[in-house]
Amino acid sequence: MSAILPPAERLWWNTPVGRQEIVWVGIALLWCLILFAMMPYWHVYGKQNLSNEAYKIYPAAYETKVKAMVDQYKVREEGPQLIPVVHPPAGSDVYILARLWQWWPILELEKNQTYRLHLSSLDWQHGFSLQPLNINLQVIPGYEMVVTMTPDTSGEYTIVCNEYCGIMHHTMLGKIFVKE
Ligand code: CUA
Repeated sequence: MSAILPPAERLWWNTPVGRQEIVWVGIALLWCLILFAMMPYWHVYGKQNLSNEAYKIYPAAYETKVKAMVDQYKVREEGPQLIPVVHPPAGSDVYILARLWQWWPILELEKNQTYRLHLSSLDWQHGFSLQPLNINLQVIPGYEMVVTMTPDTSGEYTIVCNEYCGIMHHTMLGKIFVKE
């Protein structure tokens, strides 16, 4: 029997379903259920999607908050673009803003201290990817995302924009330092 031609038997729904077909439907159903269970499992145990908070905020208001932190805690500037390096008090709320094509400012954090990291964009959708850790977040204008994190290894971490945001997307790199 073909799917193109009408069924030979007019009352086709009375024909028993073939064994192979039942087996395949069973396999597909089982696989669906496994994948469905993986969604909550991976959220809890995969450590891939962080549970986080999100608030609505106007981009200009977010920029004001970030600037206030930079003005207060700037310790030096880095690179050809003179990006400020900020060392906020241990355990405080820290801010990074995304814009075409920059993560601003550079944070200097202390090891084993818990921070609330705020993220938002001033212009476009960007992707916050922290390397070599596997932290990934969408950074969207109008929304302030907050991640609570405790860096437990000192070193230099790179923020890579992993959401295509235009011609200079590939240059949109940022930094976080974690000090002993
Ligand atoms: Cu920002 Cu890609």
